[in-house]
Amino acid sequence: MTYREKFFELKKIDNQYLNQTSIKSLLIDNGGFVDFFDLLKHFDEQIKDENVLNIQIKRLTSGEPLQYILGYAYFVNSNYKVNPDVLIPRQETEQLAVSTMTKIVKLFGRDPKIKIVDIGTGSGILGIYLKEYFPKSTVICTDISSKALEIAKINAKDHHVEIEFKKGNMLEPISNESNISVIVSNPPYIRSKESVAEQTLKYEPHLALFADPAIKYYKEILTSIDKQLLNDNKFLIAFEIGEDMEEELTDLLETNYSGLLYSFDKDMYGKTRFLYIINNKELTDALN
Ligand SMILES: C[S@@+](CC[C@H](N)C(=O)[O-])C[C@H]1O[C@@H](n2cnc3c(N)ncnc32)[C@H](O)[C@@H]1O
Repeated sequence: MTYREKFFELKKIDNQYLNQTSIKSLLIDNGGFVDFFDLLKHFDEQIKDENVLNIQIKRLTSGEPLQYILGYAYFVNSNYKVNPDVLIPRQETEQLAVSTMTKIVKLFGRDPKIKIVDIGTGSGILGIYLKEYFPKSTVICTDISSKALEIAKINAKDHHVEIEFKKGNMLEPISNESNISVIVSNPPYIRSKESVAEQTLKYEPHLALFADPAIKYYKEILTSIDKQLLNDNKFLIAFEIGEDMEEELTDLLETNYSGLLYSFDKDMYGKTRFLYIINNKELTDALN
């Protein structure tokens, strides 16, 4: 059977997970093609491994996420290895990565030699992206899951970047560090299983999703930051947050950290999904 025949055969099947994007991705992967246009060039060739493709289609139609089937996920401008030990990178996290990068440029310049820490790194996407952007910086990625760190290490190797990986709870693995300029984190923040899509609940690691109460890890990070840990001249803390957390986080910051400056930012749907904190009034522009 040719790729063309398979493409139109699959398009006729009525299944919520079998759509144009997932069909294209599986066919591109099967042929080892670069992109959709490369697939089109080979559209009338025989499928390279139809058995493998059929097994993948079975997994997809039964609800397994495409990224776990392919073994990789696209993030900002590149592919990262993923498996069920790590969360599949989300579009909001791409926004966090890019916006953290632009804030770092505003605060520390284009090629800074600073220390950046990614807490709860999962597949390593945030730390690796920032290290690629700021090669002179030292990047430390932490996670409580050894299995997630294994994937993050492979991703760092595949992206040819040197990163320090440390295992442990939140800030504990970096408690001996000093002069940290940037902390970036997308910690678990989902309150209840009811608010998660069935597919996510079934396939993605619960350790990466849930926090009780939802604010738990933000509080833990903010309350355990010792003065000695951070660059006291200027630092940036960048968080992805749940869409209903602005009020609670504002309370936390106003009550305990009156000296810090902070701003919330929205995602493409207009939902408040990011929190940025800095310590230097002269640098308020960097928050915008
Ligand atoms: C929402 S995922 C984020 C993964 C990745 N940074 C991303 O944005 O796709 C949260 C990550 O925090 C890790 N984690 C959960 N509890 C933790 C803890 N107590 N200390 C450190 N990491 C933790 C999970 O293993 C998971 O990799």
